[in-house]
Amino acid sequence: MRLLPRSASRRSFYGEFIVKPVKVGICGLGTVGGGTFNVLKRNAEEIARRAGRGIEVAQIAMRSPNPHCQITGTPTTTDVFEVASNPDIDIVIELIGGYTVARELVLKAIENGKHVVTANKALIAVHGNEIFARAREKGVIVAFEAAVAGGIPVIKAIREGLAANRINWLAGIINGTGNFILTEMREKGRTFPDVLAEAQALGYAEADPTFDVEGIDAAHKLTILASIAFGIPLQFDKAYTEGITQLTTADVNYAEALGYRIKHLGVARSTPAGIELRVHPTLIPSDRLIANVNGVMNAVMVNGDAAGSTLFYGAGAGMEPTASSVVADLVDVVRALTTDPENRVPHLAFQPDSLSAHPILPIQECESAYYLRIQAKDHPGVLAQVASILSERGINIESIMQKEVEEQDGLVPMILLTHRVVEQRINDAIQALEALEGVAGPVVRIRVEHLN
Ligand code: HSE
Repeated sequence: MRLLPRSASRRSFYGEFIVKPVKVGICGLGTVGGGTFNVLKRNAEEIARRAGRGIEVAQIAMRSPNPHCQITGTPTTTDVFEVASNPDIDIVIELIGGYTVARELVLKAIENGKHVVTANKALIAVHGNEIFARAREKGVIVAFEAAVAGGIPVIKAIREGLAANRINWLAGIINGTGNFILTEMREKGRTFPDVLAEAQALGYAEADPTFDVEGIDAAHKLTILASIAFGIPLQFDKAYTEGITQLTTADVNYAEALGYRIKHLGVARSTPAGIELRVHPTLIPSDRLIANVNGVMNAVMVNGDAAGSTLFYGAGAGMEPTASSVVADLVDVVRALTTDPENRVPHLAFQPDSLSAHPILPIQECESAYYLRIQAKDHPGVLAQVASILSERGINIESIMQKEVEEQDGLVPMILLTHRVVEQRINDAIQALEALEGVAGPVVRIRVEHLN
């Protein structure tokens, strides 16, 4: 296909400069880097039609070749800093991951006046405030759509598409590996290590898979989403994080019997007292669309005062889905190259001098409904004691399910769902419940969100 000729006036006004391709350097040719290279090559014409200029990969820094990429004629290096200092390069694409070298690389690129596109959620969540401040000083863009939910353009949607709204809350399944594990456990009864090994082989899991299963990766992404939704600085250190490693098949099945699915959910909610920022296993009513997001897929629900609830769904990881977001950022940067830095979309959606100091709430002050599983001795009066401990603390029981005595230990599983209550009260109640003579072992507590 031939490109339509540019209008004569535009060409004569800008001269040849405007039609020269923008030169980018890819740092890291792993899963996402390889995908980015291939998408840029395969869709070069389509991308140039959108961006207004071609995008040329002028250099690649890589530790080893990617068997999925055919690189011919593009200079390569093993030193990422060579790319950051290459005078020919306009945009550095950081896809090496991690916090340390990636931070140095991005700061070096900014210092050299280069725009940056990154897929690095850990880097943005932990060092984003510093990076954006330096980028503002130098008048360059740091774009990070690929850092959250892979191929879903959720950053752009919140930052630009929902710019009219006061965002009330958002909730997301934002770690594909964790969702894949929960789905396989529920649907096929597979074991945790078995499913994790498959996610690693598929290239979804983090280099350190505890980041996936302990909720750290999701907390990185949630930190970023909360910043652009509420106009607050990035505060990863204040996010509450609870993993999925302690979940049992018994709780997955009891939840199902009560009409819920357990998902590893990131929740950010704006309340008058502060902002809730939490990642934990969560019961969601099984008729919610988001409860039916399975496998490695991601979804983010955003509730705004004008738009109501919106749901963004798609592949949260993988070679080309993540590359799709990297390349979309590249197109945005190319379009903005000739704009005045003051008139660009702010990095964190809100003008930097308008960020709010609304605090992040500690988890004890967050509010949700709860699922409690109590292993009770088969005595008269235990249920009455449980009910009185909850009522003394103002905890309203929504429903209760008592199962038959379990043969192996003679205990009766008692499952309760509560109405919404501040976490501190549930902590107090659990302490009192565990002290009862009629209760054996720890009480299982899982938060419940109805998302309506
Ligand atoms: N490890 C991440 C996941 C990759 O499983 O979702 C994408 O950020």
